[in-house]
Amino acid sequence: MSEGPSRTTAAGSESADGDSPTAADSSADPRATSGTRAISDTVLNVGAGEQGDGNVTLDLLSAVGPDVQGTATTLPFADETFDVVEMDQVLEHIAPERLGDVFEECYRVLRADGRLEAWVPHAASRLYDQDPTHRSRWTHGTPEYFADGNFSWYYDNRAFAFDLVDREVTVWVLEDAPLSGVRSVLLQTAHRLLEWDDGVVYRPSVSGSIHFTLRKV
Ligand SMILES: C[S@@+](CC[C@H](N)C(=O)[O-])C[C@H]1O[C@@H](n2cnc3c(N)ncnc32)[C@H](O)[C@@H]1O
Repeated sequence: MSEGPSRTTAAGSESADGDSPTAADSSADPRATSGTRAISDTVLNVGAGEQGDGNVTLDLLSAVGPDVQGTATTLPFADETFDVVEMDQVLEHIAPERLGDVFEECYRVLRADGRLEAWVPHAASRLYDQDPTHRSRWTHGTPEYFADGNFSWYYDNRAFAFDLVDREVTVWVLEDAPLSGVRSVLLQTAHRLLEWDDGVVYRPSVSGSIHFTLRKV
């Protein structure tokens, strides 16, 4: 279920892919920057999967055992129920035309001053590319489309208003050797010259994760 640069499963997922973050990239684990939740906060985890935490977990799939089966586009909760809504490796699975619905719903169920915390894979990474269930692309600038900022007018007709209060992009290499960047270039060249893997070359060895926090206005 997990797909790599996750808040909760970053290292394990990389291993599943045959690679692991380097020691030098230990700061790449987005958990290091997610300690903003107060003990008293009421947390809804949307798209929680099998291991998501939170006071209430919701997922599209009943098979993963959520507290509530449902969809992020129509959250089955009353207005202003939660202090925090978390979505870890979920938004990229939402079709672009439905993202507005998801942000409206998060806004609606959040209390005044509530926070939406999201983690998404960076679109320019192998772990984004390889998953056929990914529907929307996220880069450093994308959260600005859903918050006060340069591009918020795209969603002026929507019933949500957020401030973008925190955002960081973490990039790391997936190989455990020194000089892995150089090695990546050499590998790419070898792939091209020798036509390994039918000549298909990934953006090798680089992965990225975006964590951002929106505050309900
Ligand atoms: C990649 S998994 C991430 C699971 C977990 N958050 C984690 O970090 O390990 C994506 C999850 O989002 C769920 N999901 C996808 N679309 C959804 C939607 N529209 N509403 C609710 N959950 C959804 C999937 O069923 C899946 O459990």
